[in-house]
Amino acid sequence: MNSNKQKRIQKITTMKKIGIFGCSGFIGSHLVERLLDSTRYKIIGADITQDKIGHLVKNPDFEFYKININDLKKSKELLKKCDTVISLAALCNPALYNTIPLEVIDSNFTQPHALVSLCAELGVRIIHFSTCEVYGKTIRGVALKKLTDPEDEANYLLSEDSSQLIMGPINAQRWTYAAAKQLLERVIYAYGEQDLLEYTIIRPFNFIGSRMDFIPGFDGNGIPRVIACFMESLLLNKPLKLVDGGKNTRSFTSIHDAIDAIVKIIELPEQSKNQIFNIGNPNNEFTIQELAEMFISLYKELYPDRNYTSKIISVPSAEFYGKGYEDSDKRVPDISKAQRLLGWYPNINIMDALKETIVSYVDYYGKKWAA
Ligand code: NAD
Ligand code: UGA
Repeated sequence: MNSNKQKRIQKITTMKKIGIFGCSGFIGSHLVERLLDSTRYKIIGADITQDKIGHLVKNPDFEFYKININDLKKSKELLKKCDTVISLAALCNPALYNTIPLEVIDSNFTQPHALVSLCAELGVRIIHFSTCEVYGKTIRGVALKKLTDPEDEANYLLSEDSSQLIMGPINAQRWTYAAAKQLLERVIYAYGEQDLLEYTIIRPFNFIGSRMDFIPGFDGNGIPRVIACFMESLLLNKPLKLVDGGKNTRSFTSIHDAIDAIVKIIELPEQSKNQIFNIGNPNNEFTIQELAEMFISLYKELYPDRNYTSKIISVPSAEFYGKGYEDSDKRVPDISKAQRLLGWYPNINIMDALKETIVSYVDYYGKKWAA
């Protein structure tokens, strides 16, 4: 056997084997990229598409399988190859929660529940992606009665192990996603309490960056999340739409800060064992109206020749998303647990994160449209 081949076999036997289910999505594609860069991991990726990882599939440390995770036989075969699995596959676009709620519940509870059971059976560590939406409606829905002092509202933080999780009535189908994610968190927690599973749950707070969602009618259909909605409007010189006036806030988190946190969780199994972590940037809390204004001013500054002339308009949520839409009004993470146990803290400010996102969309869609 030649020495190169020997070295390669040696390397493969010492590498950690990480399964990434949903590896071709926004988070998955950035995570695969980062883990392959480090050359210490063998990645076993699964997804129904390879659209966002086409540039990575030839890497010898990446095995990609085009499968649906509801194929339990194939999923089990892949899980047997892994030390740790990262469960990302889901329908996670708010426009779907009240329009195809049964598929949303299936995709965020039934299918990943089967994956969790397989991990318990096979003794595979799971890092499962839940959502900050499990906190539900937040200020107006949960705590307003207690918040008589406006100072309190300014200090309002959502904490993994103490905040209430409160959702709207059943006819407000917006909450199908959050309810499905919450129930699966409860299942995973119960497995952990009975010593049947080693897990970590991540609650992401509005990660943003390149490769998020799609531009409707070009590489996808329907309504994407707010970043791609605003980019579509900028690229096509259309008005940016604020749902119900855009008064609610989000804490926007650069995908690069988020990936740093995920890598820490992968590499610190003892510190992250059976923990739930908020991963978000509390310093980047803005209303959607402020977000729209920042998008427009950065776009005009970066691309003056594109002559963007449209304005910001407000649209009722029932018109934009349809019946059964409700919203969280304020979402700011308490990240002290991630800081204490993982030594993680986000560093990327909103302007830098938005600038990078805008440039990536203009490059990607500009080239595609030109071709
Ligand atoms: P995404 O839609 O970009 O990626 C999801 C991926 O899962 C897609 O590539 C899709 O093809 C794949 N997938 C869906 N169903 C599948 C199935 N049955 N079999 C195989 N593959 C399937 O979403 P994302 O933003 O990367 O989010 C990933 C996870 O993180 C989701 O579970 C989501 O709920 C959670 N999350 C993300 C954010 C965020 O800020 N992006 C926030 C909160 C929660
Ligand atoms: C998102 C999605 O549920 C998930 O991707 C994820 O679980 C989670 O939250 C997250 O990213 O942390 P949400 O933040 O409501 O939910 O989704 P966005 O599409 O990013 O919308 C953010 C806000 O912008 C909402 O208030 C929405 O009504 C508003 N919006 C959206 C607009 O004002 N205009 C638009 O064109 C689109």
